[in-house]
Amino acid sequence: MTRARPVVAIDGPVGAGKSTVARALARALGFAYVNTGAMYRAVAIAARAAGIDPDGAGREAELTRLLERIEIRFDGDRIALDGRDVSAAIGDPAIGDLASRLSTIAAVRARMRELQRAAGRDGGVVMEGRDIGTAIFPDAEVKFFLTADVNVRAARRHAELAAQGATITLAAVRDQLIERDRRDRERTLAPLRPADDAIEIDSTGHGVAEVVARMRARIDQLARAR
Ligand code: DC
Repeated sequence: MTRARPVVAIDGPVGAGKSTVARALARALGFAYVNTGAMYRAVAIAARAAGIDPDGAGREAELTRLLERIEIRFDGDRIALDGRDVSAAIGDPAIGDLASRLSTIAAVRARMRELQRAAGRDGGVVMEGRDIGTAIFPDAEVKFFLTADVNVRAARRHAELAAQGATITLAAVRDQLIERDRRDRERTLAPLRPADDAIEIDSTGHGVAEVVARMRARIDQLARAR
């Protein structure tokens, strides 16, 4: 398929800096920014409000019904569930954990795929998540897989949570991060892994501007080759 402007996929584990980098890159390119983790988190908020047990026997049917009835809207950094802005509420670590659990379920992934493919269809988008380069846009023109040392990722996540007023130890954040990554990597459906043609970038010791500049250089290089 040929799109006038590319789809830029950024995948990677928790705390690798995907959101910060993706947002800055989208702004620099004049592209839309889509945070797919926020969409899974919005589903988690809806599932929690509906009292759905993520490990219960009836979860697939209950989630299918839920997904038919909820409306998720997103625009850059903002995300709304049934018309209510949940951009702040999705930052709760418990919601991140529930989102990770729910993301193993086929009905949830299918609905997210539909929304994400529609959002990126015409290109001109930077989309970040876990499976963008492998499952959502395997034909994305540019794919990055962003990683960082686990201690750096835990420290970043801890600082983010502290800024939101959460009182959680660094050790607890690190344990939760390792557990969520394990679940995201080991799940059967669209597990977290770099696409074969993804460019891996380790952001340990590199600032946002530096990582974004590297990505831009790659995108410019591809644009010249097209
Ligand atoms: O990026 P995040 O931490 O906000 O994502 C929350 C969870 O959602 C993550 O642990 C797994 C799931 N997720 C996913 O399965 N696929 C994506 N493309 C994005 C997120």
